Amino acid sequence: MDRTAQLTVRPTACDIAYDPPSVAGSLHVRAARVLEHNWTGASTVPSHGLYPHQWSWDSAFIAIGLRHVSPLRAQTELETLLDAQWGDGRVPHIVFNPSIPLRAYFPSPDFWRSSTAGRAAGAPRAVQTSGITQPPVHALAAWLVHIADPGLSRARGFLTRVYPRLAAWHRYLLHRRDLGSGGLASVVHPWEQGMDNSPCWDAPLSRITPAPARSFRRADLDHRAAEDRPTDLDYGRYVRLATDYRDGGYADGSGDFAVEDPAFNALLIASEHALARIARELGATGTARHARAQRLTAALIERMWDPAEGLFLCRDVRAGELVRERSVSGLIPLMLPGLPRDISAALVRTTASEHFGLGNSTRLVPSYDLLGEAFEPHRYWRGPAWFNTNWLLEWGLRTQGEHRRANALREAVLDIAQTSDFAEYVDPYTGEACGATGFSWTAALTLDLLHGRTETTALTGFEGGNPG
Ligand code: SER
Repeated sequence: MDRTAQLTVRPTACDIAYDPPSVAGSLHVRAARVLEHNWTGASTVPSHGLYPHQWSWDSAFIAIGLRHVSPLRAQTELETLLDAQWGDGRVPHIVFNPSIPLRAYFPSPDFWRSSTAGRAAGAPRAVQTSGITQPPVHALAAWLVHIADPGLSRARGFLTRVYPRLAAWHRYLLHRRDLGSGGLASVVHPWEQGMDNSPCWDAPLSRITPAPARSFRRADLDHRAAEDRPTDLDYGRYVRLATDYRDGGYADGSGDFAVEDPAFNALLIASEHALARIARELGATGTARHARAQRLTAALIERMWDPAEGLFLCRDVRAGELVRERSVSGLIPLMLPGLPRDISAALVRTTASEHFGLGNSTRLVPSYDLLGEAFEPHRYWRGPAWFNTNWLLEWGLRTQGEHRRANALREAVLDIAQTSDFAEYVDPYTGEACGATGFSWTAALTLDLLHGRTETTALTGFEGGNPG
């Protein structure tokens, strides 16, 4: 039997036999159906039309939900992604499905040319990928997938196989990507941070000469309204940055765009804690990894915390200054164990402030400052509320002991996921669906929240306790 056929696991009646109250039960079944529809045999597409390949951080969030439907598929999702890892440790942001026509998505494999342009960096030969990365949610996902069914995980040697790959991924980020020499990872393209057109990138991107509009053809506008998507000017700059990176053989260090982002680094730190838990499961102590996570947390505070704003800000490494825009990214460090009390309290206040409105003018946290000049309620990452960031903030509020706020956010995610038909993102005021519907991570994280929450404490129980 070939590997793909062996791994094509359909959810059985037994897989979806979870039996919560009837409304939640039907939501569970609907969410599981979205993931089933988007499953392609060894991984899950975010959405068949707009994103018809495998995306890196999507797969991590998808695995976190899929573990409640099929732990085997959840393990497979992560293993398929890690099979496309490069020799230098980077995990590419897209793994291309060769059966999808080139014109279905831009930039397609013939743009990235991973197996030739990426040869020196160790790109795989058997599969085509992009050459940039996405936020490192993977070790966290691997740990959560393991604890959903430790027996299956041990029987398949899941953690034994993924641990060295995840360790190499973190090594790549902490060494090759420490472009600011402050001990944190930089992103070299807005797509790497995942919030593509966040106003945080406007200043660092303004220094980039856009590729001419006629030199490429966007495929996203075949599927969604232009008002919901990044502008052509943004795309011109995305293309220029990716072209230059490719033409330099995907070597790190010299690009014109380098930004340290709070969410990207907070996810790296949370994943480092998760990697410590994985190391312990495999017989090591994990102490060094927890200690590194604490050092990274101190660096995050040192380099990005703004006490006057009560928020973490991006650092533009090339300009040597903080980017003074309020983004949901700056709230995500709430999920870190070991955050000093005054910082976590300030972050909680900021989520409810007029800039993010949680529990006041909004039920979900918007991606960008409601009062910011660049705020647009429907345009991708310039204002809409996204389900993955709200899932991370629900985790964060719980980590900081804010259970009442976390419960309200959980209810809001579940309600709005249902009414929006598992939208990609929503208007933060009205909950109106934007982008794609039947979006995989929205369905996956709905499943995860339906199954309650016990894991946050599992990441906090590390040696050394909470400083401050
Ligand atoms: N999010 C990007 C897109 O819209 C790239 O990862 O295609």
